[in-house]
Amino acid sequence: MTAGPAHLAITPVEPGGPATEALAAREAAALLPTYSRQPLALVEGHGAWVTDAEGRTQLDFLSGLSVTNLGHAHPEVAARVADQAARLVHTSNLYYTEPQVALAERLQRTLGWPDGKAFLCNSGAEANEAAIKLARRHGRRRDPDKTRVVALTGGFHGRTLATLLTTGNPDKHAPFQPLGEWVTHVPHDDADALAAAVDDDVCAVWLEVVQGEGGVRPLDAAVLDAAAQACARHDALLVVDEVQTGLGRLGEWYGFQGTDLEPDVVCLAKGLGNGLPIGAIVARGEAAHAFGPGDHATTFGGGPVVAAAANAVIDVLERDDLVAHAAARGAQLRAGLDALAAHRPDCDHARGRGLLQALALDAPRAAAVTERALAHGLLVNAVAPDAVRLAPPLIVSAEEVETGLARLTAALDEVAAADHAEPTDHAAPADHAAPADPAEPTDHAEPADPARAPEEHP
Ligand SMILES: Cc1ncc(COP(=O)(O)O)c(C=O)c1O
Repeated sequence: MTAGPAHLAITPVEPGGPATEALAAREAAALLPTYSRQPLALVEGHGAWVTDAEGRTQLDFLSGLSVTNLGHAHPEVAARVADQAARLVHTSNLYYTEPQVALAERLQRTLGWPDGKAFLCNSGAEANEAAIKLARRHGRRRDPDKTRVVALTGGFHGRTLATLLTTGNPDKHAPFQPLGEWVTHVPHDDADALAAAVDDDVCAVWLEVVQGEGGVRPLDAAVLDAAAQACARHDALLVVDEVQTGLGRLGEWYGFQGTDLEPDVVCLAKGLGNGLPIGAIVARGEAAHAFGPGDHATTFGGGPVVAAAANAVIDVLERDDLVAHAAARGAQLRAGLDALAAHRPDCDHARGRGLLQALALDAPRAAAVTERALAHGLLVNAVAPDAVRLAPPLIVSAEEVETGLARLTAALDEVAAADHAEPTDHAAPADHAAPADPAEPTDHAEPADPARAPEEHP
């Protein structure tokens, strides 16, 4: 698909339509209502662009929640998945399969952990669940009471019962109690509280270097230091959840590599399969010896097709130097967001790293901005009531970053105009004097540009 000028039009088009409504009605009759969906039904995607059931094209600055990092329908991933699917899809883990071993070797190489050992599973929650069991096993070998976990408020680690308890959002725990009492949460910005919470009964400290679902919040170096020191002092494992931040998203292969942290275990998923369901943990040092045969298992985990997808993802990231590209495009995106925050009263600040960024607003308007962004052909999400998350694919071009910023600006203008309008004048679109969308959105191979200076943005 080539996105032509029609896709760049800045005139807002109300989302939804007959095809979307028909699908929503069928869904309501057949699926449990666990999701509040946007009025958008997607049917196809190429690169950073998706097409909806009404035939409209959107610039995807969310990547399926940091998953389709190589863009939609990446030809290398598609070809290697098709090739593997035509030869061998499933064997169970009773037998050896080469793609699984090859993936574990690639994880060792990209982590820089020659002694790292992987366990492959199907999702981010399962990766965290596996790491919880591994940390327990490791701790209990030292002392039967060494079973507790210290985690951070705002952290997100999954929705299975154990990972839900590890997730630092008590509102999400309440409807499913009892979840047990083996996790202590400390404020995500309080190094002293973290240090004080870790004792000899703690088997692991759990954190994300940038809390993704918690609002795209990079943790302070002091908190990271406190975690590392507490783990060393009390012989606890340092587990870094890189489900959202790993595989180049932050402009580093893994987020911890941009810090002084040396984790014992990392959890991965999301971008690993570019949309195919795969998760992994990698443990090193003594942690790599915690599990023995029978301690953990999965029927599907690391099967040949998803492992082939993940091998293709890592090969393309390496071949096309996409981690450096993500760092450059992330700097460009951040410069644009910083400029918005500097010049607009309705924006407060930008935060994040690499291509995982949030624009914090001056009020809880993120849902409205997300909704108007959709009308302007841009997919983003309200990661907090007052913060809009942007996570474009790592293949995003400089022109697409500018297009995304222009569309976001148009959405902000509309929300601001509606706020200032009389109640009856709600729908008046803003003056999209706004920078015309500048680019053809197809060139993913383009070399990295230096970031634009903030002053160049409106
Ligand atoms: C940091 C982190 N850990 C774990 C998970 C859970 O992953 P999944 O939804 O694949 O179970 C997520 C999902 O957003 C995440 O962001």
